[in-house]
Formats: sequence, structure tokens, C-alpha cells
Amino acid sequence: MKRTCLLIHILTLFILPTQAQKFEGLAMTPPMGWNSWNTFGTDINEDLVKGIADAFVEFGYKDAGYTYIVLDDGWMAKERDDNGNLVADPEKFPAGMKALADYVHSKGLKFGLYNCAGTKTCAGYPGSRGHEYHDALLYASWGIDYLKYDWCNTGDLNAEEAYITMRDALYAAGRPVVFSICEWGDNEPWKWGKDVGHLWRISGDITPCWDCELGHGNWSSWGVWRIINMREGIRAASGPGHWNDFDMMEVGNGMTTSEDRVHFAMWAMLASPLIMGNDVRIRDEATIKILTNREVIAVNQDPLSKPAFRLIDEGDFEIWIKPLSGDDWAMCFVNMTKSEKALDFDWHFEHIGDNTINRTLDIQAKTYGIRDLHLHKEIGSTGEKLSAVIPGHDCLMIRLTPLK
Ligand code: GLA
Repeated sequence: MKRTCLLIHILTLFILPTQAQKFEGLAMTPPMGWNSWNTFGTDINEDLVKGIADAFVEFGYKDAGYTYIVLDDGWMAKERDDNGNLVADPEKFPAGMKALADYVHSKGLKFGLYNCAGTKTCAGYPGSRGHEYHDALLYASWGIDYLKYDWCNTGDLNAEEAYITMRDALYAAGRPVVFSICEWGDNEPWKWGKDVGHLWRISGDITPCWDCELGHGNWSSWGVWRIINMREGIRAASGPGHWNDFDMMEVGNGMTTSEDRVHFAMWAMLASPLIMGNDVRIRDEATIKILTNREVIAVNQDPLSKPAFRLIDEGDFEIWIKPLSGDDWAMCFVNMTKSEKALDFDWHFEHIGDNTINRTLDIQAKTYGIRDLHLHKEIGSTGEKLSAVIPGHDCLMIRLTPLK
């Protein structure tokens, strides 16, 4: 009897394919962290990472919920070693990646790396194509918690298949890893990414401007509003464990404080991952205030997990709304012009609701209190008009909560 059981067990192991999958239960709210690319490009090293980890703790980023520290392109030596292993650049990372991961973990944070589905990364370092299982084991041995996986030098690879291969390799290696798909939205990952990764980029690279396109020959990088407006109909694809990724943030990287406030507010509203892209070692109070605003972060991390949508576009003003758990709502009134504008919003004038979840802001039946999430104070209720003066390229971000 025992022998029969053993035989069945062995047959099951060999005949039935192992059900590969992504790691479930990770990124149940949009991941929060930092990535080296926007500010440092390939000019990265272990002191930088340690300094970032220290700043996470010192300036309150960790307490605000930021967890992942991710090294982007440029961490490797130009060649694999004789055994086919990726090698951390010995000049930039003399102590090696395991020691660096240990340092980040010792601060109660998590550590991520970058690679690419192609033969080489975008900056010309060894890619993972044909080495997926080998690389995944190496990452697991180093204690890597997050992998951003890019799409340069991929030839005629099928994106979905290539990302599934890496997903399966990570799963086989056994260490839970948040898998970040980065193919710029070219292959509509919102249609297939849910079972493959935990987040997927929806655009090419961001650049710190309100609404510009910056050409680089055969590709462009995009300002905040270009990215927000780039895709139609992807809202429903986001949810716990699988998020539309509007790219690493540019808060603190050169836009005005007002523009940074809008950028952060919108990433929160859209339920985008909140991955900082600035030098967080710099003690810049305005930037820290924006990035650690817990009331705004709570909108991003809200357990209902529904991204915002554009409710009204008046040209000068855009009004975005995000249903929240309970019967709360977040709203963002954005002044799209460069000059100050007066807002005079009559709650009775508009039908406000989210048809996809059958919820309406029922101001006939209920009155909602209004809280300003930047000023951290109550500013009235839906019983009266909402009046405010909003500076150019700034926003009023509010939370509505039914009054008892
Ligand atoms: C691509 C990605 C960026 C960054 C660079 C690194 O452009 O979209 O986010 O990772 O590659 O080379």
C-alpha cells in the first residue's frame, strides 16, 4: 500500500507538469519604494544604496510605507563569469550584492535589481535571454525581493512568453519576488500581465515636466500628463497584485513644487506604484512633505484598489475621482493652466459615481465631510459649494467621508 502511494507520488512529480505561477500575495497594494534610474542612470554604487536605505529610515520614508530599494541598469560587470553567472560590477559593488541586500534587509527594507528579457540590457550589460533560470537562482541566493525586467534587444521575442519564462524561473528559484514588467506598454501587458507580473509599465520613460515630449532620436520620454493620457481603457486592469505602472516618479527632480504635488497626487489617484526616482538622501523639506504625505498615500494604498478616472474635463480644470473603501471618495481638482484659478464646484450639478462598481456619491441622501489632503484639515461639506483658489499647475486633493 505504502509502495503504491510512493509510486503515485513519484509519477505525479514527473508526469504532471509543475504548475508554474507568479508569487501570489505580493503587492496587494501598489508597491512603494525607490529606483536609481531617473537620477543616477548607470552611475550607481554600494555607498549610494546604503545612503538611500539610511535616508529611508531617517527622513520617514520607511515609516510612510516605502519598502523597496531597486537598483536599475548598470549594476553588472560587462561580461558573465566563466560559469555563466552575472557579476556585480566589482568597482561599484566591491562587497557584492549579497552583502548589499543584507544591509538593506537589516534596515527592515527590501532590495530589488534590474535585468532585461533581451540579449543585453538597454545600457548594454548582459541580458537574461537564455539564462533565465540560472539568473533567478543567483538572485534568490543574494536575497533579491524585486525584479524589474526590461525589454531592450529582444528581437522577435514574444513579450508575453518571455515574461512568463522569467516568471516561471523566479517561481522555480523559490524566493518570493515582486516581478515588474517593463516593456513600455508596447504589447498591451494590461491584457495578459495579471498572471505574469505584479506591475507593468504602461508607457515609455518619464521625464520631469508637466506635459512635454522629449525626443531622443528613435524614442521619446514623456512628461507627467503625457503618460497619464497615453492609454485608454486600462483602468479595470489594475487590482491587488497587478498594477498599471505609470513609471518611477520625478518628484524632486526639477518641476515646481506645485507640479510635484500634482504628479504625486495623480500617481496616488491612479493606484500606480509609488517608486521614487529622486535622490532621497537630500533633505529637501518640500519634497519630503509631498512624498511622505500619509493622507495622499492612504488614497493610493486604499484596500478597495480602484484607480481614479477623469470625471470632468473643463479644459482649465480636470476633476478626477477615486472610489475608496467604506463609502469614501478621493477627488483631485487640477488646475491645468499656469495661472491661478478660482474653483466653484456645485455638488448638485453633477452626477458623480463609478458605474463599474455601481457606486454613486449620493449627495441627496447623505452629506459628506470634505478634508483637504494637503492642508490636513476639514474644509466643509457637500452641503455647500466647494470654493477654492488653486495656484497654476496645482491641485486641490480632497477626501469625502459621509457625516454621521
Ligand atoms: C528603459 C526603462 C527605464 C530604465 C532604462 C535602463 O529605458 O524603461 O526605466 O530601466 O531602460 O537602461
